[in-house]
Amino acid sequence: MSRVRSTVVRARANIALIKYWGKRDAERNLPDVGSLSLTLDGLVTETRIEPDSSADPPRFELDDHPMTPDEARRIRDLLDRMGRGERSGYRFRTVNHFPTAAGLASSASGGAAAVLALKRALEVDWDPAQTIEETLRVSGSAPRSLFGGFVRLDPRGDGVELTPMEVPEDWDLRVLVVQTETGAKAVSSRDAMTRSRRSPYYEGWVSEHPADLDTASAAIEAGDFDALVEVMEYSTLKMHALPLTCRPPVWYWRPATLAVLESIRSGRDEGLVGGFTMDAGPHVKVFTCGGDAARAWRARLERMPEVRGVLESRPGAGPAVEVEGRPVGW
Ligand code: PMV
Repeated sequence: MSRVRSTVVRARANIALIKYWGKRDAERNLPDVGSLSLTLDGLVTETRIEPDSSADPPRFELDDHPMTPDEARRIRDLLDRMGRGERSGYRFRTVNHFPTAAGLASSASGGAAAVLALKRALEVDWDPAQTIEETLRVSGSAPRSLFGGFVRLDPRGDGVELTPMEVPEDWDLRVLVVQTETGAKAVSSRDAMTRSRRSPYYEGWVSEHPADLDTASAAIEAGDFDALVEVMEYSTLKMHALPLTCRPPVWYWRPATLAVLESIRSGRDEGLVGGFTMDAGPHVKVFTCGGDAARAWRARLERMPEVRGVLESRPGAGPAVEVEGRPVGW
């Protein structure tokens, strides 16, 4: 059996502008709809695999603690799919370099980093298509973290197709993560997605979704930021309407969420450029262009008593992979 190669992967989080919500195959995690995201700089998951002859079975750590049985099971499932379930003699350590309670899903960057690190360290012979498919199984948003900039994901046959898109240079894009209330969410996105399929609006969500993706792609290609922001907000509000209209209902909004949305609307009335999106949680993300606009939004939002903090980010690159100290592709 070949030795374990010491490997480091740094993968970044992403935020969807055109939202993914709903699966047609829960087992393979195949989505009913596509999505379009931006990979964010600075919000990095770092996964290291080191040979360690005393680690039998292998040791799995997350943020400097042994993984919970549930967390370790997800890695073991991945190892089984790689045909490496029996291998021992290594430590798998993953650290999320995100400010705590930023309300950003680490499942995307963590999923991408785990797949790439294990693939390289244990010399798994997966081509790019299979790597994407297996990353999708870990989390629906994770394949988007395999690339930098804007990433479009389309369902295709029994899998998905990923298309990276350049961020128009003159946008100087900034994303503000506006933290509202903290605390664990009551219903996981997985459960809420399953329930959402019973919403009377689900059919409309699925049938209209490709048009939203095309509108967003065309806006990026044309460098039309206002058009992108408009369809981003439309997709976000439609997504949130689904868990709200199923039985029993789920809503991720808190009073602070609405206060922030009101402030964004009035900021725009006063001439600020930008728009919002939200994931399955109470925080709000604001997309804007340029340092001055970002500063103005921050000043406005940071003085709200409901806001716990604002984190600013720019577009980020795809994952960096190093094997035995040398950069390699994924
Ligand atoms: O990656 P998951 O399965 O946790 O789903 C993420 C769903 C949203 O964040 C709400 C939307 C998206 O496209 O990222």
